[in-house]
Amino acid sequence: MGNLSLSEAECLLSEASISNPGPWVRHSYYVADAAARLAVHIPGLDPDHVRSLGLVHDIGRRFGITGMRHIIDGYAFLTQLGFAEAARIALTHSFPIKDIRFSIGVWDCSQEEFAFVETFLEQVTYRLEDQLLQLCDALALPEGFCLLEKRFIDVTLRYGVSEILPARWRATMQLQAEFETMLGASIYRFLPGVVETTFGFV
Ligand SMILES: [Fe+2]
Repeated sequence: MGNLSLSEAECLLSEASISNPGPWVRHSYYVADAAARLAVHIPGLDPDHVRSLGLVHDIGRRFGITGMRHIIDGYAFLTQLGFAEAARIALTHSFPIKDIRFSIGVWDCSQEEFAFVETFLEQVTYRLEDQLLQLCDALALPEGFCLLEKRFIDVTLRYGVSEILPARWRATMQLQAEFETMLGASIYRFLPGVVETTFGFV
């Protein structure tokens, strides 16, 4: 196996939505859709390919309600299926800063697993796909596309405040700036419904 096809990704998310239904499934669809919509306008990115990566970026949640365990489970699950790139994204999407010290969420895993992620981040080189998925993860609520800053608050309300948050926010906003340079426009131009999802009834 190599590249994960769109139909394979749709199938994996559909199965996962049965084993552990929840808002994360809708979030995954919107992350995938945001990635595809932006990729259409960026040379070097394949919209269907990044949509597939977006659909399975949180696939580790198929095993239950977990914290950072979901990225380790997602990586192991996709690696076992032979989808190396999708497995990498399952880990890297949570790290706009390529350093385990800038993580949010509970490390509900063994010391060995924590050390594995730490080393993985030290050694991996981010590609455009990793960065696109990091950005899109911050643009999608279960209800639809939203302002980055809305999602920052959504995550903070669920995980709590920590001193590393401003650095993560800055890194994500830096990704926004880099993709907007490639797009020659605001990312929000390509995300229908972003005003309604961000502000409620308008
Ligand atoms: Fe996500």
